[in-house]
Amino acid sequence: MQVIWTNDLDSDAYKAILDLRISVFVKELGSDMALEVEGESACEHVGIFKDGKILCAGRITPQKKKCLFQRIAIRRDVRCMGYGRLLIREMERCCVTKGIRRIDICASESALGFYLKLGYTPYGEPFMRGDKPHHMVEKNI
Ligand SMILES: CC(C)(COP(=O)(O)OP(=O)(O)OC[C@H]1O[C@@H](n2cnc3c(N)ncnc32)[C@H](O)[C@@H]1OP(=O)(O)O)[C@@H](O)C(=O)NCCC(=O)NCCS
Repeated sequence: MQVIWTNDLDSDAYKAILDLRISVFVKELGSDMALEVEGESACEHVGIFKDGKILCAGRITPQKKKCLFQRIAIRRDVRCMGYGRLLIREMERCCVTKGIRRIDICASESALGFYLKLGYTPYGEPFMRGDKPHHMVEKNI
């Protein structure tokens, strides 16, 4: 397994990460493409690869004293195999190395149980993003 971090939007790793996100969020879940790549250049992007093929991806948006995890996507054929947990752990590890101890995630309702299992706590009122209900969740690491 290979973990690749990049903020180079011309890199092959980023292209694989974006391809996966498009297949999950735009094609599978119907998100808007413009929204999908919004704020992209300000983020750290991560992909986990096996035998050269991408398994999962996410991005971190640094904020003042915390980080926002976004675009958490696991390839459809490898879900429920622990890669989501592995990805979030890797992203948390990255934050710790930068001295960031607080994580926020805008969780779609369908993925809320996943974040609860990983120790995240909901806060605030649920809201709509696109046509899907979302909840903010947080964790101090
Ligand atoms: C949600 C998602 C990231 C989960 O990744 P995954 O690799 O399937 O999750 P894991 O196998 O690491 O699961 C970890 C734990 O969470 C649970 N879990 C996974 N998805 C869940 C869900 N949607 N609801 C409730 N629990 C879930 C698993 O059962 C497992 O629990 P266990 O430790 O008791 O066995 C993945 O399904 C995905 O990419 N979905 C489409 C995109 C998406 O919705 N992203 C999140 C946007 S906020």
